[in-house]
Amino acid sequence: MKAIKMSQTGDPEVLQLVETKEPEVDKNEVMVKLYFAGVNPFETYIRAGGYAFFSPELPYIPGFDGAGEIEKIGKEVQGFAVGDRVFVASTLSKTTGTYAEKVVCGADAIRKLPSFMSYAEGAAIGVPATTAYKALFQRGRLAQGEKVLIHGASGGVGMLAVQMAKHQGAYVIGTAGSAEGMAAVKKNGADLVLNHHESEYLKNISEVDLIIEMLANENLTNDLRVINTFGRIVVVGNRGTLEFDPRQTMAKEIDILGMAVWHYQPAGYQHCLDEIEKMLDQKVLTPVIGKTYPLEEASQAQYDIIHSKAQGKILLEIQPD
Ligand SMILES: NC(=O)c1ccc[n+]([C@@H]2O[C@H](COP(=O)([O-])OP(=O)(O)OC[C@H]3O[C@@H](n4cnc5c(N)ncnc54)[C@H](OP(=O)(O)O)[C@@H]3O)[C@@H](O)[C@H]2O)c1
Repeated sequence: MKAIKMSQTGDPEVLQLVETKEPEVDKNEVMVKLYFAGVNPFETYIRAGGYAFFSPELPYIPGFDGAGEIEKIGKEVQGFAVGDRVFVASTLSKTTGTYAEKVVCGADAIRKLPSFMSYAEGAAIGVPATTAYKALFQRGRLAQGEKVLIHGASGGVGMLAVQMAKHQGAYVIGTAGSAEGMAAVKKNGADLVLNHHESEYLKNISEVDLIIEMLANENLTNDLRVINTFGRIVVVGNRGTLEFDPRQTMAKEIDILGMAVWHYQPAGYQHCLDEIEKMLDQKVLTPVIGKTYPLEEASQAQYDIIHSKAQGKILLEIQPD
């Protein structure tokens, strides 16, 4: 099968298209023939080396999410059959990597894809949806009628977070860094959209109950200004350090909560996937796809997810469906 492999950590160029042998399927696993895979920022941190949560043995095929059709099935797997259309969400399960024509993963990492959804949409669910769900509900405790600021709403996680928060009955403020990204966030259902690169873009914002923060090192100081008394800030993304005065957390008695999908426990993860499946069936969640690259351009896709403006989820197209 064709796959993207890295034999060393480093720049995006370490991602090479190779021909490699198909992985074996164990009794609790499935092999999925993939049509699309998701590209996530943490895959670039893993590629660069030194990522806190995961350092793979090399050579390594990257990728944790994707969508396709079950091709082989382990003897003890229940509830699935060869030919089922599924999406893969494998951060918590063994996976052979989704930047490939086929992936073998635990059956606990797949869910059926509704018949009305495309494989491309399916590949935009795994990491972003499990991240958005944990940030909003398990860490952020979002309640109906609250005001939430999704600080970085134009990316893979942010788009789904906006949809989930609206479904919960929240007033949703989303930010993006380009006119195209802002238009996409507005179309995605946010009540108010701001440009996080404009000066003083938060000047009319106050009493926010919950902030989902995609770039804490840039924004935490301003977040503390707009957050409500007893509010919560969930740090989802961060790319640096900052200096701030912890006294401000006392004044409003706020919670700053870190979150990482890697800390899901198996039962919590399955509950999250159950809830995501329900939201997909009810058409509450409709993944927004930004740019799609052919598999062989995985290095460009990883470069662009860090350096270009987001308008939804970045995907790799692996084979025509
Ligand atoms: N903690 C976890 O478990 C976990 C899981 C998944 C992802 N993450 C992290 O969460 C972040 C978002 O992931 P993603 O998949 O949505 O990435 P993505 O698709 O690349 O989106 C990145 C988002 O960050 C926004 N952004 C850029 N500059 C910003 C600023 N100054 N203030 C606020 N937002 C800004 C981007 O907006 P523009 O491009 O429009 O400027 C875009 O909305 C990444 O840092 C990722 O590593 C963490």
